[in-house]
This record gives sequence, C-alpha cells and structure tokens, in this order.
Amino acid sequence: MSEILDGKAFAAEVRAKVAEQVARLKDAHGITPGLAVVLVGDDPASQVYVRSKGKMTKEVGMSSFEHRLAEDTSEADLLALVGQLNEDPEVHGILVQLPLPAHVDADAVINAIAPEKDVDGFHISNVGLLGTGQKAMVPCTPLGCLMMLRAHHGSLSGLDAVVIGRSNIVGKPMASLLLGESCTVTIAHSRTKDLPEVVRRADIVVAAVGRPQMVPGGWIKEGATVIDVGINRVPGEGDKTRLVGDVDFASAAERAGAITPVPGGVGPMTIACLLANTLTACCRASG
Ligand code: GUN
Repeated sequence: MSEILDGKAFAAEVRAKVAEQVARLKDAHGITPGLAVVLVGDDPASQVYVRSKGKMTKEVGMSSFEHRLAEDTSEADLLALVGQLNEDPEVHGILVQLPLPAHVDADAVINAIAPEKDVDGFHISNVGLLGTGQKAMVPCTPLGCLMMLRAHHGSLSGLDAVVIGRSNIVGKPMASLLLGESCTVTIAHSRTKDLPEVVRRADIVVAAVGRPQMVPGGWIKEGATVIDVGINRVPGEGDKTRLVGDVDFASAAERAGAITPVPGGVGPMTIACLLANTLTACCRASG
C-alpha cells in the first residue's frame, strides 16, 4: 500500500505560515495584504469556490474584496473594474473567476490585470516568465502539486514525469515547473498514441484531464508518485453523488509509492497557494 499524501493537512500548514507572515507584516509595517475576487454571473460551482476563497482570505488575516457582477455585465465594464483594482493600493492580488460568460473575451480580461497582481499566474507575461524559468506568479494548482512533490521527494532531478492534460491552467504550467526541477517531462493528452505505455514509464504521474477514474492502477509503475488533480462528480449511492479523481484510487494505491486522494489531496492546496501568491505580491509591492 502506498503513502497517502494528505493535501488537507499540508494546506493547513501553508495557510498557518501565511497567517504568521501576514501578522508580522501588519505589526512591523502596518500593511494588510488584500485579495480582490471578481465573479461574473451565478455559476453554482464558481459561487462555492469564491465563497471559500473569501472565507480563507479573512482567516489568514488578509483583506478580502468581493465583486459579484451580473451575468450580462459588458466586457467594457469588467475591464473598467480590473483597471480600478490595478490602481487600488489596498489590493495586492486580483483573481477573475473563470469561466467568464461567452460574450466576454476572457484572454482580454486576464491580460488587463497588472501582471504583478495576477495571483492566478494566467497573464501572458507570467506565462512567458514561467516558460523561460524567470521569477513569475505561478498558477496555484500546479504550484500546490509541486509543493507536495517536493515535500515527498526532496529533489526531483532526473525523474521521469508524465503530465496527463494540456490545459493552460494546470497541464502546461505543471510541465514547465517539472522541467524547472530537471525532470524529464512528457505531456500526454487525448491524441497520445499509447497512453498506458507512457504512464508506465513515469516516476511521477500528474493527472489533470477531468475524466473520472480514466487512469487505472494497472498503468502505474510500482513505487511511482501519483498526483490526481481531477475533481469529478459521479453518481453515488441512491440519489447522492460522490467526488472521484482522474485516477482509479483503489487500484492505483496498490502500486503507487505515494498518492493524493480525492477529495483531500490537491484541492485544498489550490486556495492555500492563492493566499501564498497574494502574500508574495504584497511583499514585492511593498519592497
Ligand atoms: N476556475 C477554476 N479554477 C480556477 C482558478 O484556478 N482560477 C480562476 N480564476 N478561475 C478558476
């Protein structure tokens, strides 16, 4: 049986360290880091995330600014709000919750955020900085995965890593981060020719495709580390639903050296890293 990588406990540790530094910033310099979250429309999943972000932001002692806008908000109005937040000295981090309604050009909105306040790490400048190994704001979910991998392995140098999924939010930045750790990185996706064989070679598997339990345990190399980013809702007992990852946990846990569960694995690390990024943005802004 493999070691279970407890993201919930790890995320609580990260938040506690952030809270400690926030208190120090307040005491020594009278500065309170602030995070602005913008939500357009009433997508239920986004509402849950935004509420949870606001709650945890306050719990670590930061200021939380929530902007909830109607579904039919124009792109011009959204850009105006982003411009205002860029200029606001109390706002150190800005997050525009995705997805945005179809009539809004999400890239235009993201790229209107001041790169130094882009705590999601989605601005094209941060993408370029990360891709070239320079100091960037790093997207929160891949950053959380990397922290868990580093904590478990120490050095990742020379390990074979496979990232399944090529999204801009997780797959691509994850691959850049692993390359930065001197892993040999493969990005696999829906057109990959022999996915089982690609996964079998990997010392590290990061699954981020959003397809319930698509990676069976039989594909996992004995002793590999498995990071499951998937959060998929599937039918459960009776009329209930349950959450499962992209990896079949029960069979993968028989072979992996270490594995993240769903829920309680990578998920809680995302908001913890968002808070860490906001603290970083505040420290850089305050010199
Ligand atoms: N929607 C789902 N995940 C994310 C995220 O990490 N950041 C933002 N802004 N929106 C999301």
